[in-house]
Amino acid sequence: MLYFMDGNFTKKEHLEISIDDRGYYFGDGVYEVVKVYNDELFTAEEHFSRLFESARKIKLTIPYTEQELIDVARELIKKNKVSNGHVYMQVTRGSAGRQHNFPTPAVPAIVTAYAVNGARPLGDMEKGVSVKSVDDIRWLRCDIKSLNLLASVLAKEEAKEAGCSEAILHRDGIVTEGSSTNMFAVKDGVVYTHPATNLILEGITRKVVVQLCQQLGIPVVEEAFALKEAFAMDEMFYTSTTMEVMPVTTIDGHEIGSGKRGAITEKLQIAFTAQIPK
Ligand code: PDD
Repeated sequence: MLYFMDGNFTKKEHLEISIDDRGYYFGDGVYEVVKVYNDELFTAEEHFSRLFESARKIKLTIPYTEQELIDVARELIKKNKVSNGHVYMQVTRGSAGRQHNFPTPAVPAIVTAYAVNGARPLGDMEKGVSVKSVDDIRWLRCDIKSLNLLASVLAKEEAKEAGCSEAILHRDGIVTEGSSTNMFAVKDGVVYTHPATNLILEGITRKVVVQLCQQLGIPVVEEAFALKEAFAMDEMFYTSTTMEVMPVTTIDGHEIGSGKRGAITEKLQIAFTAQIPK
């Protein structure tokens, strides 16, 4: 498997990652995960534009253009024969002795990326999954796709220990999102999701799903809902690049709606699948 690092495509065993990489010390960097369907990147412009936006928000200069990084992602897909899977790319603030301040003079940002095959989670998309409610203890800039993921890692692990696939995060009783997904609920035919504020990552899949609702004539409001209300919803689902539109059938062991994939969730899955490159 060939990895990308700073302009070169290299075998993993030949990659030289510095112990002084600020990604390693501080999680000082940003990243993206982009889906590959049938040899093609899905919503690539949106993902790479968000990567640059995240970098801008942490005052990190990426030494490439968006188009150059899209081309790198395409090269990785080709070189590694990834037909269906995803590309992971991260950019850190470079390698310098460990001190909190940005290095002066500035050092070059370090871009690393790989592409890997992986199947769509079709079984779970039909059956639905269970989630566990977890306190959202993350920082107040969740709109930045930063490498600092410790709170998300802990939440996902807590969910796993409870036999669940994902954590439904809540801040002061209000559902924000999942540990690596955006949460949606359906009540009386209306789709609800947390507004794109600093408290959530504005998911690309979330955007696609909001647009699909509008196209399908399904009312959708970007309005937060409480965890207490979530238990009484007709349907719930979460979205992400790799999970697509994933039905949630239980929260903390309580069934949501029928306890099965909901009708609107299924409609959105079908519409989403129709957009996938063939
Ligand atoms: N996670 N919210 C958070 C906190 C996320 O980390 C992600 C993505 C999303 C969904 O965003 P998108 O639809 O653009 O993938 C929402 C990626 C997939 C990850 O960390 O693996």
